[in-house]
Amino acid sequence: MGRILAAHARVVTAGIFVPERVLTNADFEKLVDTNDEWIVQRTGIKTRHVVSEGEHASTLAFNAIDDLLEHHPDVEIETVDYILVASTTSDYVYPSLAAMIQDRFGIPTTAGALDISGACAGFAYGINLATGLIASGQAARVLVVAADALTRSADYTDRSTCVLFGDGAGAVLIEQSENPGILGMTSGSDGSAGKFLFRTNFRFDINGTMDDTRLLRQDGRNVFRWVMENIPGTIASILDRAGLTLDDIDWFAPHSANLRMIEALNKRMEFPMERTLLSVVDYGNTSAVSVPLALIPAARDGRVKSGDRILIIGFGGGLVSAGNVLVWP
Ligand code: COA
Repeated sequence: MGRILAAHARVVTAGIFVPERVLTNADFEKLVDTNDEWIVQRTGIKTRHVVSEGEHASTLAFNAIDDLLEHHPDVEIETVDYILVASTTSDYVYPSLAAMIQDRFGIPTTAGALDISGACAGFAYGINLATGLIASGQAARVLVVAADALTRSADYTDRSTCVLFGDGAGAVLIEQSENPGILGMTSGSDGSAGKFLFRTNFRFDINGTMDDTRLLRQDGRNVFRWVMENIPGTIASILDRAGLTLDDIDWFAPHSANLRMIEALNKRMEFPMERTLLSVVDYGNTSAVSVPLALIPAARDGRVKSGDRILIIGFGGGLVSAGNVLVWP
């Protein structure tokens, strides 16, 4: 590979995938003490797509990339020189999902391949990192994939969490460009709030208790409060770094965790719900995938147009946050 000159970056194209199996709120009424009214009222969620036996985060990722290639047959996947994958539910600790993608799609072994642990902010983190790799001349074409099978980490005896999650994947190709197509990149974390949303691994003592289940645990009320206290400031910083105001934003694509939380955020920001892209109602909280799952269908059905500015923001386990403004291709 020749020398790459440092450059701006832009999204070229994208793909998505959700598994076939669907769980409705009625299905959860048979599993735990819950009901459709509670779930819709508190979260907005109606259905979620979930992996079946034999399907993994890699299955979701491969299918999202296949979808990208089907929609854009002119893309030469072997020219990708970096693969970044956002996931907290990868098949293995290693090999990484990024290395599995390299193999499956015949991407050269000289391409960088890295999984990033950014929970529900992982997609935005990935785009920010891809932009940096391109700006520093380390890469010219970066494949950023979000792939999560969070239902694999859900406790189906805990009604306060199991109803929330769904599975899927999204992939975007980012490449060098003359003009900046990714603006205002902002990333952060607040480890002190990690106790509100965690999943144990080798260590089981956390938050003054023991949890050896390795399943997702959440104090939803405190996560909600943290989001409302912190995310408006992060959004202001994204806009500030991009040199834009909310009036310049065509679409808002926040992490689709909870419809009520997004409504509260929009009310605080005075941004209309009509220009907000959502995936939570049909797909539940799909973690790193929730933003591409809201954005890509909107680009395909003509709501998001070429040149539109989309403000994306992710937040989740860590607690972490990341966002940017994408100029749609
Ligand atoms: N069905 C019926 N009742 C349920 C329930 C369910 N699925 N889950 C919880 N409840 C009950 C609780 O047991 C509690 O009952 P109690 O008052 O008798 O103790 C009551 O509903 C209220 O629980 P609470 O947890 O305070 O509800 P909430 O209004 O905070 O809603 C969430 C819960 C999870 C929907 C909400 O807190 C939330 O979305 N938080 C943000 C989470 C998030 O976005 N995480 C992703 C970041 S990546």
